[in-house]
Amino acid sequence: MGDAPRKGSRITRSPRVAAGFIREGGTVAFPTETVYGLGADALNPKAVLAIFAAKGRPADNPLIVHLADAAMIGLVARRVPRSAERMIEHFFPGPLTVIVPRAAAVPDAVTAGLDTVGIRQPDHPVASAFLRACAVPVAAPSANRSGRPSPTTWQAARDEVGGRVDCILTGGASAVGLESTVVDCSSGRPVILRQGAVSVEALRAVCPTIRVHHHDPAAGPVRSPGLKYRHYAPSVRVVLVEDPGRITPEAGERFAYIGLSRRGLPGRPVLVRPCREVQDYARLLFRFFRACETAGVDVIYCQIPGDEGLGRALRDRLRKAAGDHPIFPGGSGRAGG
Ligand code: TXA
Ligand code: MG
Repeated sequence: MGDAPRKGSRITRSPRVAAGFIREGGTVAFPTETVYGLGADALNPKAVLAIFAAKGRPADNPLIVHLADAAMIGLVARRVPRSAERMIEHFFPGPLTVIVPRAAAVPDAVTAGLDTVGIRQPDHPVASAFLRACAVPVAAPSANRSGRPSPTTWQAARDEVGGRVDCILTGGASAVGLESTVVDCSSGRPVILRQGAVSVEALRAVCPTIRVHHHDPAAGPVRSPGLKYRHYAPSVRVVLVEDPGRITPEAGERFAYIGLSRRGLPGRPVLVRPCREVQDYARLLFRFFRACETAGVDVIYCQIPGDEGLGRALRDRLRKAAGDHPIFPGGSGRAGG
């Protein structure tokens, strides 16, 4: 079977119309405050499998379940540990996913067979209206093809999965621009599996014992299956820099630059995106990657932000987008853990 898009995707701005597709077992790309999601009825295994097909996602990478209301947690969680309760109390609705023991009603397809499930209540008016109208928990990964940067506009979601989903629910650009923070509260001391807009500092204020997971490939299997795959990578080469003044493009190289300062930036970049604050950088990064793909640049230089607050999440995404490419010029620092 070919991998080409096959369906016509209905494009709508009506949460009710989009929810109709979910209730019939279909798939819908929808806006959230972090990135666009690709949703299906979390309690319908066949619908959930259609998500994996549309994304080209490996079946061993579990999905986050989205809820209109924290009161729906009982539908998908077997129990809610005290630490999870506190996170939910402080950060729901918002860009935080909490992993808890899963209820039997949640199909294996959602959790990739794990006995835990990730839950999130988005803080976005269109997402909320949509989830309310669905009236079921909605399993949704980011609405990109597997391995690519997450879409932060409906047009980007259409470019990624148009023709592969039943419906695209339009909304504005995502305000955060990076995926949610993922915290595993399923057993014992909570662990941050993925950094995001809810910062380590903010989580620590609520849960002082929380720790950050660092995967050591020598140490055996990863705790979050998603951590082992290449992620957030545009088709253009990404190179990280500490100081734009030290970029030395090769002769004829069509390059782009995004960062917090453009001081000393050489030559004639094809695209430049100076960002006032780290929040702007996070919000615009994936959109910038897409613009660079469209413009056909050879390399995207990205400045490494400071290692605190949202900067940590941004460093994580940048490092993954850059893959094995070194920091430029060589050896002066690390993109952080
Ligand atoms: O902001 C977001 O989180 C977006 C929006 C749409 O909500 N969703 C998103 O989903 O980024 P996705 O599938 O692209 O990333 C979910 C991450 C993956 O790394 C996955 O492995 C991890 O969360 N995850 C989900 N359920 C898990 C579980 N039960 N145990 C460990 N990791 C889990
Ligand atoms: Mg994703």
